[in-house]
Amino acid sequence: MFDNTHAHITTWAIAIILFIVAVMLHKAGNKKATKIVQMILRVFYLLIITTGVILFVRHSSFDPALYGMKFLFGLIVIAMMEMILVRLKRDKNTGIFWLLLIVSFLITFYLGARLPLNWNWFA
Ligand code: HEM
Repeated sequence: MFDNTHAHITTWAIAIILFIVAVMLHKAGNKKATKIVQMILRVFYLLIITTGVILFVRHSSFDPALYGMKFLFGLIVIAMMEMILVRLKRDKNTGIFWLLLIVSFLITFYLGARLPLNWNWFA
């Protein structure tokens, strides 16, 4: 958990699935189930951040700037998922937030895979 990224990958992969399920449940008009999935998703936000912070504390001295960017964009991905679900619930426009979610996810993924642990595709 501390020197490999498996726990971190597991938490964000599950979170993305829960996010998609929540959006689908919302579109299907199932308010109660959407709320339950969103509550579970929020627990996963905390798990992503916890596993991410542990990796950050232990490894960021290798390249503080890049690790700092990874931290920031990881938080933006979480914020955008939360924003989209809250705005869907209030029937507000979500277009720009989908764009921000996809862009910040791609950047976060790139940075994660570029940093030295485990996947090291772009170094
Ligand atoms: C949904 C949001 C997030 C996604 C999609 C994501 C994605 C990734 C990916 C793809 C990796 C590379 C895994 C590997 O090489 O095996 C990674 C590693 C990492 N992530 Fe995240 N992450 C997210 C959120 C966060 C947050 C919020 C933090 C900080 C609190 C964080 C900190 C880290 C750190 C420190 C690493 C290790 C990088 C390395 O040394 O290779 N991540 N993440």
